[in-house]
Parts: sequence; structure tokens; C-alpha cells
Amino acid sequence: MDGEIACACLLLAAQADGSVIETAATAPENVRAAFIRHGAIQCGFCTPGMVVAASDLLRRVPSPSEDDVREGLSGNLCRCTGYQKIVAAVRDAGDGL
Ligand code: FES
Repeated sequence: MDGEIACACLLLAAQADGSVIETAATAPENVRAAFIRHGAIQCGFCTPGMVVAASDLLRRVPSPSEDDVREGLSGNLCRCTGYQKIVAAVRDAGDGL
């Protein structure tokens, strides 16, 4: 929201009134394509959150290390994955492989 990562589940809609909202659907194409290419797909909560967090990370760190990616996505907790494909997708999108 307005260029900052926000927990959508903790915001009232009124708090976003007049703000610029980015979502997985508006994330850069190369990020979305990398997630698909690497099969980095989780549930309908995890995947959008990770795509948005990855986009934010890549704006700040264009060529992230594995540790950078894991730190950048640390606000997205999924008990269903080891994050391997997700880390690979983010690094690929950032040309960090
Ligand atoms: S895939 Fe969403 S919680 Fe694990």
C-alpha cells in the first residue's frame, strides 16, 4: 500500500481509501512468470503474499542472495513448503541465480 508492504488482513478498507494498492495481479510480469516457471505455487493466501513480498524485495535488492530472499519473505509463513522453489523463483526474477 503506497509502496510499502502491508498485512491486508490487518487493515480496514477505510485505511486504504485513497492509497495506491499493489497486488499479485499488478506485480511485475517477470516475478509472476518466474513463480510459474519454477512451480513456486502454494495456496491462495501464500502465493499472492509471496509474489508481492518478492516484488518489494526486488525493488530494494535487484539481485538478492538466498539469505536476502529468505529474509525478504520472512513475513509470509507457510507450513507447507521448504521454500526451495520460491527462493529459486525470486532469485531468477531478480537475475540472482
Ligand atoms: S500453502 Fe498456504 S499455508 Fe502453506
